[in-house]
Amino acid sequence: MQGKRILLIVTGGIAAYKTLEVIRRVRERGAAVRCILTKSGAQFVTPLSLAALSEDRVYDDLFSLTDEHEMGHINLSRQADVLLVAPASADMLAKMAAGLAGDLATTALLATDKPVLVAPAMNVRMWEHPATQANIQILKARGVGFIGPNAGDMACGEHGMGRMAEPAEIVDALEAFFGPVVKRLSGRRAIVTSGPTHEAIDPVRYIANRSSGKQGHAIAKALADMGCETTLVTGPTHQPDPMGCRVVRIESARDMLAACEAALPADIAVCAAAVADWRTADAAEGKIKKQPGAAPPALKMIENPDILAALSAAGNKRPALVVGFAAETSEVVANATAKRQRKGCDWIVANDVSPASGTFSGDSNTVHLITEAGAEHWPTLSKTDVADRLAALIAARFEAAE
Ligand SMILES: Cc1cc2nc3c(=O)[nH]c(=O)nc-3n(C[C@H](O)[C@H](O)[C@H](O)COP(=O)(O)O)c2cc1C
Repeated sequence: MQGKRILLIVTGGIAAYKTLEVIRRVRERGAAVRCILTKSGAQFVTPLSLAALSEDRVYDDLFSLTDEHEMGHINLSRQADVLLVAPASADMLAKMAAGLAGDLATTALLATDKPVLVAPAMNVRMWEHPATQANIQILKARGVGFIGPNAGDMACGEHGMGRMAEPAEIVDALEAFFGPVVKRLSGRRAIVTSGPTHEAIDPVRYIANRSSGKQGHAIAKALADMGCETTLVTGPTHQPDPMGCRVVRIESARDMLAACEAALPADIAVCAAAVADWRTADAAEGKIKKQPGAAPPALKMIENPDILAALSAAGNKRPALVVGFAAETSEVVANATAKRQRKGCDWIVANDVSPASGTFSGDSNTVHLITEAGAEHWPTLSKTDVADRLAALIAARFEAAE
């Protein structure tokens, strides 16, 4: 299950402690786990334990403005390859069967377009109750996969059907679910840059650009999906962290270069960030005050480091494949072809970012791929499709070199 993403929903039952072991084992096998904890679930395990074991934050609130801003309940359920409910309480099975969406867990389950697996855990009478059995039939008919439960002694002192499957069984079921997959970039390492940079004028003001980070984040996800160990170095964006990537957040171009250099060695570098070409020569340490009658301050600009050129000239640490982006507003292909020569990179993905193109904030992109063989003109695609296509070409390049 290397590179797979599991959205784990933990509901309120004693067996929740066993779920901690599931997270550990699944992560040992290379999958990423992101957790949603129900209100009742939090009575049995703490968000801190889940966060520590998953090395990700834990989601529990449908109405958290921050989550909705950064992540969104829909995104949360769509980013995963599978949703696993463990333990799945009788209450949760009933809500799923009824299609209720009264909290984050049930909303994610209703909003998802991904397969759902459940590991029920409950008292034997609750399991045998006709209401629970009817719910199970409804869920099975809808394609929900059941892992367990098993028969045995229960925490409540009774004996019978309803014990949650053991962590090893749940992990085996996940392995079987994913099946053998060919990870075309497994064993490779990539650095992807994304988003804008912020260049300080003073502690409260900065110079930025309109990059949303959508394209860079999609590329990081596409590479990670192919099993590539991916570090995403990102400027400030509103994009959710792609699952399965190591994410390094930076602000300025200089921070971004340092983070990229720290992430070397890598086989692949994709520089999709819109790095500011210039920064202020001497950012003020205190807030620049508006003085009555005084002229506005003149900003003296100096050049920022060139991250693409630096990675392309990183000597024996140079990634085997360095891909740059060229954001152009005219003469897109000609300018990008010249940029490829100038920067010493291998490929350039050129796109038109003139306001009419809608590229910067939009979901689609019309790109031209400039390689040593010339220019390839791609049709207008979603940014996700551009990312998948680029990742497939990157994989093919490494396969051809083997
Ligand atoms: C000590 C204790 C243990 C419980 N264990 C279970 C359990 O194993 N299975 C279950 O379905 N409900 C169990 N419950 C009841 C659920 O926590 C309750 O139905 C809750 O509303 C479930 O909410 P959720 O499905 O949103 O997590 C238990 C309750 C308590 C107080």
